[in-house]
Amino acid sequence: MQKKKISKAVINRLPRYYRYLGDLLEKDVVRISSKELSEKMKVTASQIRQDLNNFGGFGQQGYGYNVEYLHSEIGKILGLEKQYNIIIIGAGNLGQALANYADFERRGFIVKGIFDINPKLIGMSVRGIEIKNMDELEDFVRNNQVDIAALTLPKAKAPQVASDLVKWGIKGIWNFAPTDLHLPDDVVVENVHLSDSLMKLSYKLSEKRKLAD
Ligand code: NAI
Repeated sequence: MQKKKISKAVINRLPRYYRYLGDLLEKDVVRISSKELSEKMKVTASQIRQDLNNFGGFGQQGYGYNVEYLHSEIGKILGLEKQYNIIIIGAGNLGQALANYADFERRGFIVKGIFDINPKLIGMSVRGIEIKNMDELEDFVRNNQVDIAALTLPKAKAPQVASDLVKWGIKGIWNFAPTDLHLPDDVVVENVHLSDSLMKLSYKLSEKRKLAD
């Protein structure tokens, strides 16, 4: 569908559109004007029009947007029409929290396996998914369709594990370990660093404090 290169800023905004439209769908809202959507999302109506024009518009003059259609088209742009199988490497606090979050499945991200090296954890189940020994990882990845590996293990271990996973065929890495991974160009890495977000929050708070002083 999309031929021209879409800016990162637009891509970053799409999940938010998708989420809002999903909420509207749940409330049985059939259509919405860009003005209403803009008020809800606190983004200007022209920003919304510009963003969606990147993908051919979807709106109709005098009608606004059909919520279901727009939701489904944005879902397609985000690649959400397909199911993604995920494995989680590192079954500690964060790995188990991710595995426990059932809502990812609603979006089509299915946790198929959890791996760790700690014998105390191996054999335990998280939401019905057994934690397996890292020894079994290569076989598992080679013999199952795994699209994404979430890395929730110590940062010192992440680069080697990531490079093994790539060697065995994984093309998507959801990296929570606070380290940069240097992987081939055909591998997509999405880094998630909650501490970066906290630092942005602390920056904003300190700016507000300065204004108040
Ligand atoms: P944790 O210590 O509770 O869990 C780490 C798990 O990894 C343990 O179960 C350990 O046995 C396992 N592990 C160690 N070496 C391994 C290996 N070679 N292969 C497989 N599993 C291995 O730690 P927590 O709190 O769950 O954090 C996990 C990682 O996520 C850390 O790198 C931490 O810095 C990072 N983190 C990132 C956040 C973010 O926002 N990106 C937020 C919180 C943690």
